[in-house]
Amino acid sequence: MSHSADPRPMTSRRSGPLKGEAQVPGDKSISHRALILGALSVGQTRITGLLEGQDVLDTARAMTAFGARIERVGPGDWSVHGVGVGGFCEPDTVIDCGNSGTGVRLIMGAMATTAITATFSGDASLSRRPMARVTDPLERFGARITAREGGRLPITIQGAEDPVPLRYSTPVASAQIKSAILLAGLNAPGQTVVIEAEQTRDHSERMLAGFGAQITAETTDEGHVITLTGRPELRAQPVAVPRDPSSAAFPVAAALIVPGSEIRVPGVSRNPTRDGLYETLLDMGADIAFRNPREEGGEPVADLIVRHSRLTGVTVPAERASRMIDEFPILSVIAAFAEGATVMNGVAELRVKESDRIDAMARGLEANGVRVEETHDSMTVHGMGRVPGGGTAATHLDHRIAMSFLILGLGAQEPASIDDGGPIATSFPDFLPLMRELGAELG
Ligand code: S3P
Repeated sequence: MSHSADPRPMTSRRSGPLKGEAQVPGDKSISHRALILGALSVGQTRITGLLEGQDVLDTARAMTAFGARIERVGPGDWSVHGVGVGGFCEPDTVIDCGNSGTGVRLIMGAMATTAITATFSGDASLSRRPMARVTDPLERFGARITAREGGRLPITIQGAEDPVPLRYSTPVASAQIKSAILLAGLNAPGQTVVIEAEQTRDHSERMLAGFGAQITAETTDEGHVITLTGRPELRAQPVAVPRDPSSAAFPVAAALIVPGSEIRVPGVSRNPTRDGLYETLLDMGADIAFRNPREEGGEPVADLIVRHSRLTGVTVPAERASRMIDEFPILSVIAAFAEGATVMNGVAELRVKESDRIDAMARGLEANGVRVEETHDSMTVHGMGRVPGGGTAATHLDHRIAMSFLILGLGAQEPASIDDGGPIATSFPDFLPLMRELGAELG
């Protein structure tokens, strides 16, 4: 569903110590993939812990339009009756992916090698984002694709009748490009190969293997090479979705910057392709303990204990960017409370997320009295140990920008405001009640 509601301005203010347990929602990346692979399997896939954010609900609706039978059994508990690889039927409506880049890019991949036609649309934010990075390789499978100027949505894809497999080196580090190609490769005969210069999140590879596909990954001179054998029969599987480390980052950040805080965040994914923020926070001197490490739903998870910490600015190396690509907005807020400069390198991809996140964070931090420097692919936040606050940040339909500035206000001298908190529902529908339960003053 496109985000079209009236803007919801929100404000947060300096809060007392945060205490208690934060049960953050299911992982967004894994939730999308569970619905899509469930729809491409034979039999019933039962998903528990699914994120019921708008992005994922839009993907569920899209899978129904392609012929899967999807039912909500209870909170976070969903059942998907799939149609099998190559079994998608032609949808009779436009597929509206709302705000979700992951949703639209993965679903375009999943249908591009089936001989049906579908048209995709999205909200104002998604309609500005680059899609040629996915449609170019999908055309090489044999799909015929028409896009708006600059490769933007709306896009119509006529799926390949006679798909050929692809060997493709991704031009930017992106799990969405990789995943779109692997999903398209499912219905192409022979082997589809994706080569990444930097390894990106590997949820698609893990889940495809779990559903019975033949898939291998190895690091060679060329880079990280993933090879998928096409036309498998995917077998329906139970999927237990771990809690989202990108959502956990918000209460974790709040506990780090509000004096006297100590919180517990249970069952958070510790997938090594997603752990860059936590590595950076430890470098900065954060007091975070990872308790009870275990495996859930094919992913490593742990319980996090986080205490208020005195932090020091650090340089985040460019090679770490893809392991924390969604966490730079909240890191830049944490950096504002640290002593000294935090330099974030190799982050040009932030300019094509739900918003231009470098610009959105720089302007919002400046409005709250924090000095920031930016280049096309880097951002430096000058931390002073304290943040004046008192500003209003423009969120540009971007959930992570909205949550980041609400967290900033919890530790700043003066309240911090945002122009619109509506998009928070795309990834973290219970953000406000969860933060209030910990003692945060926001709304
Ligand atoms: C995602 C990949 C990342 C990330 C997005 C989720 C995924 O995007 O920013 O929130 O689930 O594959 P890119 O692939 O564009 O880096």
